[in-house]
Amino acid sequence: MQVVHLSAECYPVAKVGGLGDVVGALPKYQNSLGIQASVVMPYYKKKFISENHFDSIFEGSLALGTTLFNFKVLKETTDKLGFPLFLIYISGLLDREEIYSYPDETEQFIAFQLAFLEWASQLKKKPDIVHCHDHHTGLIPFLMYHSRRYKKLAHIPTVVTVHNAEYQGWFGWDKLSYLPDIDLSKTGLLDWNGTINPLAAAIKCCWRFTAVSPTYLEELSYNSNGLEYLFAGEKQKGVGIINGIDTDIWNPETDSMLMSNYTTKTAKKGKLENKRWISKEFGFAVTKPLIAFIGRLVGEKGADLLPQVILNCITELHSKVNILILGSGLADIEDELTILSKKHKKQFNCFIGYNETLSHRIYASADFILMPSRIEPCGLNQLYALRYGTIPIVRNTGGLKDTVIDYEIDANGYGICFNDTNIKSIMEAIHRAVTSYQSPSQLQLLRTRMMALDFSWSKSANHYVNLYKNLIIKT
Ligand code: ADP
Ligand code: GLC
Repeated sequence: MQVVHLSAECYPVAKVGGLGDVVGALPKYQNSLGIQASVVMPYYKKKFISENHFDSIFEGSLALGTTLFNFKVLKETTDKLGFPLFLIYISGLLDREEIYSYPDETEQFIAFQLAFLEWASQLKKKPDIVHCHDHHTGLIPFLMYHSRRYKKLAHIPTVVTVHNAEYQGWFGWDKLSYLPDIDLSKTGLLDWNGTINPLAAAIKCCWRFTAVSPTYLEELSYNSNGLEYLFAGEKQKGVGIINGIDTDIWNPETDSMLMSNYTTKTAKKGKLENKRWISKEFGFAVTKPLIAFIGRLVGEKGADLLPQVILNCITELHSKVNILILGSGLADIEDELTILSKKHKKQFNCFIGYNETLSHRIYASADFILMPSRIEPCGLNQLYALRYGTIPIVRNTGGLKDTVIDYEIDANGYGICFNDTNIKSIMEAIHRAVTSYQSPSQLQLLRTRMMALDFSWSKSANHYVNLYKNLIIKT
C-alpha cells in the first residue's frame, strides 16, 4: 500500500511546531508496519535541504490564474529519514527561508497543491491513499474529485488530519480562477461563510478525517473557530487518533543534545546534571523547582497569562520557584517577557526565538512543564516531558486531557491538571507543584511512573494503517 503524506512541515527538514514532528515521524513508523509511506512538502531554504542531496525526478508547469509557474519535484537520495522525501520547488514562490507568514501564502500553498496533483496525475503507479495534513493541503481532496484536469486521481481515497482548526487558510472568491478546470456546480464545497475555506473543503470532500486526539474530535463540534456546525455534521467521517512521539529522537538515554543522558534508574542524577547546566546558563539557583514553558507565544497556548503568572510566583510564592520560557510569537508577549526577565533575573528568564537543542535540554532539566492551553488539539510537549521525567502541569483540554492523569485524582496518575485557563487555576496548580517538589520520594515515584509510559508512535501508527486498509477495501 502506497501512502503519500502532504504537509507544509516535516522534521528535521522544516518545523515550526508539532505538525513537523508528526509528519517527520508517523511515516517512518508506518513503514515499519509494512506499508510504503512517503512525504511531499514545499521546498524551503533550510539547512537540511542545503546539506543533503536531492535528484530532480519530475518537471512540470502549472497556472495560477494567468500566471505560469514551472516546478520541479526533488527527491532526497538516501531515504535517511526512514521514508522517501519529495520537495516541490518553484523558483520565486517555493524557495523561501520561512515556512509561513508571507503575504502570498495563499498562492504558495495553492501552487504546492497543484504541483503535487500535476505530478501525481502523471505517475504510472498512483498512490493508494493521499493523506493531507491541515489546511495547507486542504484543497487537494476537492481538486481530486471535482476538477476534470485531475480525474485520473478521482478514485483514490483521501484522509485529512486536523492538527489545528484555528487556522483554516481562508481566501476570497476572487481567487477561484487559481483552481483549474473545476466542476462549477460543486463550488459550494469550497465555501464557508462567504469565503473559500480550504479546511472546510477538506472536511467536506475527504473520505475520512482524523483529529489528533479523541477529546479534540469532540471539541471540534463546539469549538473550532466557526466550523462547529460542519464538524458536528461530518462527525461520522471523523476519528480521534492520539499523536505519538518519535522515540529514536526523543529518548533521554541517547539524546545527543543533552548535557547528560539518563535512564529511568539514573533519572535523579541525570536530570540534576542537566539542571545544573541550565541553571548556570540562565542564572537560577539549582535547588529551586524549575517550571518551564516551551511553545508558541499565542493566546491558544495561554501564553498571554504567563507574565502575570511570573509576577504571582514572585509575590505569592516568595520566589520559591524559577520559571524559564522558550518561545516566540505575539510581539506584545515577547516584549513583556523580555522586560520581566531583565527585572527579575534570578526568578525568571526566557529565550525568545526557536531553538531545537535548547528545547531538548529544557525537557531534560526542568522539574515541571507548564501548558495552560486554551486549545490543545494533541500537544507533544507533555509527551516529551513525560518521556524525560518532567511533570506536566496541564489544562484539561484536547490531547492534554487524553494523555495526562492527575496524581491526586488517580492512584496511577503522574501529572497536575487544572480546569481553567485563568491565573487562579494556574497558580493553584503551581502551588501543588511546589509542594510536590518538597517531597523527593514523591517526585521520584512520579518520574518512574511517567517514564515507563509508552507514547511512542508504534500504537497510533497502526490505527492509521487500519483506517487506510478499511478505505482501500471500499475502492
Ligand atoms: P504546536 O504544534 O501547537 O505548536 P505541540 O505541542 O504539538 O504544539 O508541538 C510543539 C513542538 O514545537 C514541540 O516539538 C516543541 O518542543 C517545539 N517548539 C515549540 N516552540 C519551540 C521553540 N521556541 N524552540 C524549539 N522548539 C519549539
Ligand atoms: C497542532 C496542535 C498541537 C498538536 C500538533 C501536532 O499544531 O496545536 O496540539 O500536537 O498540531 O498534531
